Amino acid sequence: MTAKASSDGLMEEIVGLCKRRGFIFPSSEIYGGYNGFYDYGPLGVELRNNIKQTWWRDMVQRRDDIEGLDSTIIMHPDIWKASGHVDGFSDPMVDCRESKLRYRADQLFFAPVIVAGETIGYVSVVECPEQQEIAEKAAADIKRKAAKQGTLDPIVLKDYTESKPEEYDLIPSPATGKPGSLTAPREFKLMFETKVGPLADESAVAYLRPETAQGIFANYKNIVDTGRVKIPFGIAQIGKAFRNEITPRNFIFRSREFEQMEIEFFISPNADWKTLHREWIDTCIDWLVSIGLPREGITEDIHPEDKLAFYSQATTDLMFQFPHGEQELWGIACRGDYDLMQHQKHSGKSMTIFDETSKEKYVPHVIEPSLGVDRTLLAVLTAAYTIDEVPNDKGKVEQRTLLKFSPKIAPVKAAIFPLLKNKPELVERAQALYKKLLRRWNVFYDASGAIGRRYRRQDEIGTPFGITIDFDTIEKDGTVTLRDRDTCEQRRVTEDELFQFLEEQIDG
Ligand code: GAP
Repeated sequence: MTAKASSDGLMEEIVGLCKRRGFIFPSSEIYGGYNGFYDYGPLGVELRNNIKQTWWRDMVQRRDDIEGLDSTIIMHPDIWKASGHVDGFSDPMVDCRESKLRYRADQLFFAPVIVAGETIGYVSVVECPEQQEIAEKAAADIKRKAAKQGTLDPIVLKDYTESKPEEYDLIPSPATGKPGSLTAPREFKLMFETKVGPLADESAVAYLRPETAQGIFANYKNIVDTGRVKIPFGIAQIGKAFRNEITPRNFIFRSREFEQMEIEFFISPNADWKTLHREWIDTCIDWLVSIGLPREGITEDIHPEDKLAFYSQATTDLMFQFPHGEQELWGIACRGDYDLMQHQKHSGKSMTIFDETSKEKYVPHVIEPSLGVDRTLLAVLTAAYTIDEVPNDKGKVEQRTLLKFSPKIAPVKAAIFPLLKNKPELVERAQALYKKLLRRWNVFYDASGAIGRRYRRQDEIGTPFGITIDFDTIEKDGTVTLRDRDTCEQRRVTEDELFQFLEEQIDG
């Protein structure tokens, strides 16, 4: 798949801001970092928790047809045999024998360089938005060095899984630029293995789950037996997943330890699954927009029928314009009865349900909306990151960096400022309001520095509202100044109006 054009430098700016202000750090940084692992700092963990809580509230608590679950990360290894992960969950990889670097074969592109009908060499490039330009430039270099006359054929890139055995030795390694060191594509298992119990032999092998979904299927019968659900219904789970990705990259977009928010929505085998699938796609788009992603940044990628997994009836990915290009954010798949049938076969336990409406007994089919927490967080950061120009305290126009987070997910909901820190009556009043607000929301108190500087510090971490206590508050009517992060507009409100406004904006 080819990524659409990236926004130059945006990813570096987001990574820099995340480190500087305590959103995200590379894991084990004091030991040089650990590829594919990231830690969330004080603001990152707030943002992450708010995304998860909002999803849980909207998908589980505010719906009467979805139940929650929290299953273990390590489960009986037979679950992964039944699901097909032990045999089939792998990516094609290719090694460079010389540099020892490893690539995902479907992310390594190559093309023959053909001049006047003769193949004079090959070019290769690792998937990136500029891959076509890079390959064309390399092909022109090869032609020039070979001093060949004639027209260069168009460079048609294919991924390495499509290469023929006789081409392996001709395609240059992207690491060395020379042919002869790339291996044939080989399947690379993505599940992390561990050992459970005192034995160290094969019988002790277990896996860190690569998706939360199988925990749902394994508990489906338990939840049906509680008698709380009737078809159609869903089971939702948020939790860690682990994949030994060959090429973790693009910050937290593809990592080796990440978190998923998944729903398995069980429907009758006779239901109009196409309509229900469409409804889920729309629900997912609406939810992304509700947490602040621009509608125009979300597109649908419908998997072609001939590329679907054998058990899948349809899959649509919601794509988002990330800094490194347009990529998958949310997968919404119709998986038929594949998973439940597999578990019925391997466990010997019946997965049938009695449908009270149709009076039939069957193994239900499933629609699976599956979303990554970390990818959502990167999408939210991408959409929120803004640079604009506003006047400072002295009226001079200055550039500012701000994160336009929706108040629902912003790590800090409001900042409370006494206008001056050396006036005890202002400080006392501001502290009292701060403590009152703190009982309901994550708010911040800041008394140091010029008021304009204090606003900027909050703008940069995406705090939507600034509340200033000034002399009018204590000497006149008790009103405070409420400042909007995005427009910088200020208005005076009473304490009651302030609480009502914040409630609508944050909890609405
Ligand atoms: N149960 C289905 C499933 O796991 P998937 O497309 O492999 O499907 C679902 O993953 C979602 O999980 C993706 O759309 C993405 O948001 C997130 N995800 C998958 N692999 C990831 C990785 N290595 N790093 C971060 N997020 C990932």
